[in-house]
Amino acid sequence: MDWGLKNRLSRIIKKDGRTVMLAVDHGYFLGPTTGLEDAGKTVKPLLSYADALMPTRGILRTSIDASSETPIVLRVSGGNSILDEDLSNEGLTVAMEDAVRLNAAAVAISIYVGSPNQKKTLLNLAKLVDEGHRFGMPVLAVTAVGKDMVRDARYLALCCRIAAEIGAHFVKTYYCEGFEKLVKTCPVPLVMAGGKKLPEKEALELTYNAIKRGASGVDMGRNIFQAEAPVAMIQAVRAVVHENYTPQKAYDLYRDLKSRMRSGKKKGMKNVTAKSEGAK
Ligand code: R5P
Repeated sequence: MDWGLKNRLSRIIKKDGRTVMLAVDHGYFLGPTTGLEDAGKTVKPLLSYADALMPTRGILRTSIDASSETPIVLRVSGGNSILDEDLSNEGLTVAMEDAVRLNAAAVAISIYVGSPNQKKTLLNLAKLVDEGHRFGMPVLAVTAVGKDMVRDARYLALCCRIAAEIGAHFVKTYYCEGFEKLVKTCPVPLVMAGGKKLPEKEALELTYNAIKRGASGVDMGRNIFQAEAPVAMIQAVRAVVHENYTPQKAYDLYRDLKSRMRSGKKKGMKNVTAKSEGAK
């Protein structure tokens, strides 16, 4: 990888090989989804806790403070909507030149393996990787799961490996039983998508399991910004990803931070340190 591409990727996946990405690109096909009605207001208190933010260019330009130091993973595919029978009909919606203009640290594109638009989305990935190499821009392939596909290790390992074979620099995929198979057979870093909203403890267990089985981190949206206390939740997720907190310790931290914020003590810890919590 060229120096520039490596440098951009190192802004997202930290020195410990881990990352907590905050996904807020849902609106590209869902519109004003719950929790993102005012994306700028939702993101503002979370931004400093995210290793990277994953928005669309429209939300970036209209709603995110340009002085932010949080690296941007820019959603550059779309063209579908929740009204579609089949969500797989996605194309490229952002030129690489605009991604560079927006100082993106990476670009993100969905692929739909096994769907009617499989070939189109995979060739879009190939084109984006070529463009990425021209500009030194890492490409994140998001393994979207067509509605008829079974989200198991066999299917997701296929998706992740195809994405890596075409040249994606890192891949976002779902957690599944046998997740370690995906890690073993995919030569680039995997980040786990948060998926639909779960009870906070379950979301922390999912994060813990993915990290334990080799994920390089998470790209989580609804399980953070739809949590009862999003700022507490992103810190708890960080504790699992960067400090190897157990789910219970992370959940205790979540509840502690939530109650402190509730009582207005605002002692949310900027960088959670396991040592002080004895979380090992
Ligand atoms: C993938 O389809 C898009 O990036 C989603 O909008 C994003 O992954 C959703 O994140 P989460 O599933 O954690 O809410």
